[in-house]
Amino acid sequence: MDLKGKHFLTCDDWTKEELDTVFEKAKELKEKFYKEELTLDLPYKTLFMIFFEQSTRTRNSMEAGMTQLGGHAHDLTADKMQLSHGEAPKDTAIILSRMGHGIASRNCFYGIGNKYLTEMAENSTKPIMSLQDDIYHPFQGLADLMTIFEHCGSDTKNLKVTVSWAYADTHSKPLSVPQTQILLFPRYGIDVTVAHPKEFPLSKDIVEKAEKNAKDGGGSLKFTNDMDEAFEGAHIVIPKNWGGFGHYGVQDYLDNEDECKKEMKVNLEKYHNWICNDKRIALADKNVKLMHALPADRGNEVTDEILDNPDISIVFDEAENRLHTAKSIMSLTM
Ligand code: CP
Repeated sequence: MDLKGKHFLTCDDWTKEELDTVFEKAKELKEKFYKEELTLDLPYKTLFMIFFEQSTRTRNSMEAGMTQLGGHAHDLTADKMQLSHGEAPKDTAIILSRMGHGIASRNCFYGIGNKYLTEMAENSTKPIMSLQDDIYHPFQGLADLMTIFEHCGSDTKNLKVTVSWAYADTHSKPLSVPQTQILLFPRYGIDVTVAHPKEFPLSKDIVEKAEKNAKDGGGSLKFTNDMDEAFEGAHIVIPKNWGGFGHYGVQDYLDNEDECKKEMKVNLEKYHNWICNDKRIALADKNVKLMHALPADRGNEVTDEILDNPDISIVFDEAENRLHTAKSIMSLTM
């Protein structure tokens, strides 16, 4: 299958067959990584990475991945570039695609990030990869699913996965991780339950798309405002904060940003009890696994006892799989 040049802005733009090729390649690359075999698929090739915000896993999986594939990644931030003086994403994409072999960017500003990446993709002659935007986090979705295959087997039909909002006081996290998960998992036959307080919905259009994906893929999708109910019988739980952006239309939010942020803060403080703890884990399947994209807000989203319990927590396998899936996408598209 020839995937060279294909943009990676959302897993939804990739067929299941294409995604299966990505998982096969990621598995092969992981095996070779463990055997310390060389995988010089991209000798002397260049990836430009543009980060508008912080990152540990994404930045390092991409940069280490490029090195391990024989190429090099430029670790750029907007303040190092003329972007900070307003250079258009279109111009940036045209220029960088003439100088290298791929461009990757993280831009999570609500109502802006995905538009930014889409404009780059429309103008780049080389693949554009999303390192997370305000709607999607496709590399995270791949690592999540690879981890699920490793721990639960590749036949994921009837697997019950709970994607739950959880309290956090670090920052207003984007919607992109849970939205990617609800779009992707049901395509593999997974039964997904989403739990969130009423003021923290996911975007309506994404939910509609995910419902269609579930219908086509043989999985299912259901919603509740009760975290306990969502944990009952779950094989995998993913408790994670997301901001209240989905409560607002994009234009409404952009026009009234300060008021929306204030309201989100007030709403957030009502839900300190949305935490993954022993009591909630006891409601789940006896072999339940905890996943989290990380960074986790320990003691708020999930207790240390659960996060550090090796019988339950597979979060570090999930984080490591960011490397193998990143290498797979880069190797196949660049
Ligand atoms: N999960 C994830 O995207 O982590 P970083 O923000 O550290 O890249």
